This record gives sequence, structure tokens and C-alpha cells, in this order.
Amino acid sequence: MRAKTAIILGAQWGDEGKGKIVDVLSGSFDVVARYAGGHNAGHTVIIGGKKFILQLVPCGVLRPDCQAVIGNGVVLDPMAFLKEINKLRDLGVDVDTQLKVSNRAQVILEYHRMIELAAESAPGRQKIGTTSRGIGPAYEDKSARNGLRVVDLLNKDLLKTHIENACREKNTIAQALFGTHPLDPAKMYDDYAAAAEQLRPFVTDTASLLNRAIDEGKSVMFEGAQGTMLDIDHGTYPFVTSSSATAGGATTGTGVGPTRMGTVIAVTKAYVTRVGEGPFPTEIHDDAGAVLQRRGAEFGAVTGRPRRCGWLDLPLLRYSNMINGTEWLVVTKLDVLDELATIPVCVGYEIDGKRTDTMPADVRGLESIKPIYTMLQGWQQSTEQARSYDDLPQLAKDYLYFLEQESNARIGMISTGPDRDQTIELPAFRTALRTLHA
Ligand code: GDP
Ligand code: IMO
Ligand code: MG
Repeated sequence: MRAKTAIILGAQWGDEGKGKIVDVLSGSFDVVARYAGGHNAGHTVIIGGKKFILQLVPCGVLRPDCQAVIGNGVVLDPMAFLKEINKLRDLGVDVDTQLKVSNRAQVILEYHRMIELAAESAPGRQKIGTTSRGIGPAYEDKSARNGLRVVDLLNKDLLKTHIENACREKNTIAQALFGTHPLDPAKMYDDYAAAAEQLRPFVTDTASLLNRAIDEGKSVMFEGAQGTMLDIDHGTYPFVTSSSATAGGATTGTGVGPTRMGTVIAVTKAYVTRVGEGPFPTEIHDDAGAVLQRRGAEFGAVTGRPRRCGWLDLPLLRYSNMINGTEWLVVTKLDVLDELATIPVCVGYEIDGKRTDTMPADVRGLESIKPIYTMLQGWQQSTEQARSYDDLPQLAKDYLYFLEQESNARIGMISTGPDRDQTIELPAFRTALRTLHA
């Protein structure tokens, strides 16, 4: 029998609207757990016109009955965490009761940001266009077995020794390589020791908590951050983030085994966006890109950077569905295409004169892709008020049917606006979720 669990993740380069979809679906889950990334994520939820942007805290926290968990796969900046929970407290969210943080999550420290900022602008280094939150250097230290976990942050002696040793090493490296001004370990210790005390009440063994919840028959949703093409293993390396954003990350990032994963739901925009550097085969370089950017308000929730816009990329979606074992797709931002008379959709790639359907591993291959487009007819009417599949114009249904046929997964939900109620749930998906919960 399937566990009452679902992984929700991004199928593209992030910002697919995961926050909104997790919020909509969290109404039928007891627990929502974040499994990867850190405060590089920006998940927007709009409830009755009120906007919330969550970075580290899972979106499920906005439902008073939902337990929220930050899993061990996350890199946690204690200062960013405290800022975020204080904001949520001010908004009336009961974070103190609802939220738990893994004792095994890695901690982002000040020198991680220092090293990242210096490295990103250093001559001869490959600029990734990161969010400058110290994410990459924190995961580097984790893999080098040189990181500090939340449980270690709570141990004052260990924290002091760790900061002294790390500052000696990082200050030397940053000064030698980038001429960076050194950080003061004594001040750093004071700041982080104080933050640790505020964090302490939230900390627990979340792997045990989650497995116990599943044993008790509770339902758990695993909230992904970033997207498949930003995954450290499967994305457009090196233009990726440093974590496992794909479905596999949900198991390593929470301590819940693969046999306990009920289903995988991937969120895809009806087109594609990307923030930061890196190859983007279907990127639009003419005025149509500006239309998508304007209608979709495509500016980063965290950094405010404009998002690059492109047409729907079906080889990319097929690749994402393969890597994640996606069962259900949620198509968001369909309304952004409402004005267009014709909509190009990429159905294949041409590389060096040869047609291919697979995602090349090398960046040079990705950069030389010539997308092969099929032109679909636009519906040129508003979908924002649609609340059931039958409310959609026939040409919008045709667009969705084409997407589903070509992507090897079933569409379960469609989103036609940022608000909670601008969502269409397909009957088969509703039934599948109900069966999962039975
Ligand atoms: P996430 O990182 O995947 O959670 O996505 P973001 O929150 O960073 O970006 C998605 C943006 O699109 C947010 O501003 C959402 O409010 C908005 N959004 C989500 N779904 C829809 C939709 O169906 N239509 C429109 N127009 N906006 C949407
Ligand atoms: P959500 O969860 C979009 C991008 C950055 C950069 C690259 C590496 O909101 O979808 P990092 O700071 O992680 O080392 O940056 O990854 N990036 C995102 N792009 N949405 C995100 O998160 C992202 N998180 C990281 O722009 O290109
Ligand atoms: Mg985002």
C-alpha cells in the first residue's frame, strides 16, 4: 500500500509556482517538510489578496493545522531563519507550535557568504549568478565534512572551536585569493551563540518525527525548492544550485526512505523562466519575452532580478519527468499566455544538424541547441476566472492536451492566477489524492 505522502517539486529552473501549489494542496496534508536548498528559495503564496513570501519555512505553516518541518537536507542560516519566523509571528502564524527544524541540517555561517561573494566576482571564475546567500559554500563544507550542523550550533564549546578554526582557514583563503577583509571570530561567536538560543526550541530529530507521523497514518508532503534543471546532479551543471532539488533529494533530505514515497507531483509553468546565468534553449530574445515578463510579473521573489523568459520546452519536461518519476503535473501561469495569437512550443532539439530528444550533458551542447518549434494557436481570452476544466477555452484545452501527450505524465492541476482559488483540480487527480489518503 502507498504511504500517504507526496513529493512536490519544480520541473524547470525554479519559480514554477511551487509555493502556491503547496499552499493549495497542504489543506489535505498533516505535515509539510522542506527537503533541500535554503533561503535562496522564494515561495510566494497569496491568500485572499494577502501576499506571503517564504524562504526557509515550508508553505504548509500558513495552515494552522499543518505541522511544518525543515529537513536535514536544508542549509539553514540562523539569522535568516529568525528574521523569517519573526515576520510570520507578526502576521499571526503560530510558528512556535507548528514548526520544527532538523538537528542534522547544516548551518550557513557568515564566511560562507563572504567566500561566495568574493568568488562570484573574481576574475577567471565561472560566474553562476547565485543568490549570494552562501548556499554553495555551505554545501561545499558539508561534503568536505567540515560543516556545522544545527545540533553542533547548540553546543557552545563546539561552536566556539568551530568558528575559531574555520575563521582562521576561511579568512586566510579569502584574503589570499580575493583580498577580502577578515571576519572577527569573537563577534561571530557571540552573534551565533545568541541566535542558537532562539533556535533551540524548534530543533528536534525530524527524521524520527516524520517516520512516526507516517507510521501513525498521517499524510506528509515533501516541499521541493529550486527545480530539476538546478539540481546538482541532473541540472545544467555548473549553472545549478548545490543541492538535490529532484525527487531523490526528498529521501536523503528528510530521512524518509524511498518505499515510503506515495507519489511525485511536478510543477511546470506553461512556459519557462530562469534567473541567473546558464544555457536556456528556448529563451525568447524578442518582444514576446517582454509580454511574458510583464504578464507573469517575472521578477525574482528573493533578489528582484528579472527572470529570463522562454517557450515551453517539452524535451526538458520529459527529462524532468524521467529523473523525478513524475506521476502528476501541475501546469501554472496558463493565464500569462492569454493574449497570444500563436504560441511556439519546443518539441525537439537540433544539435550540430542532428535531431535529438535527449538533454545533452555538456554546456556546449546545450548552448548550441536549435529548438524545433510547433506553433499552437492561442486562445486570446482570459482564463483567470476559470474554476473548472470545462470553463477553459477549447484552444487552451488543446494546448494542455498537447503538453500532456508529449510529456509522459498526467496533468492533475492547472493554475490560472496567483490566488489560492485560481486553481483547477482535475477529477482524476482529486480521486488519486483521496485514494492516497484513504
Ligand atoms: P516558487 O519559487 O516555485 O514557489 O515560485 P515563486 O513564488 O518564486 O514565483 C511564482 C510567481 O508566480 C509568484 O509571484 C506567484 O504569486 C505567481 N503565480 C503562481 N501561480 C500563478 C498563476 O497561475 N498565474 C499567475 N499569473 N501567477 C502565478
Ligand atoms: P525557488 O525555490 C529560481 C538559481 C540562482 C542561480 C543558481 C545558483 O524559489 O524556485 P544559489 O544561490 O542557489 O547558489 O544560485 O540557482 N536559484 C533559483 N532560481 N528559483 C529558485 O528557488 C532558485 N534558487 C536558486 O538564480 O542561477
Ligand atoms: Mg521562487
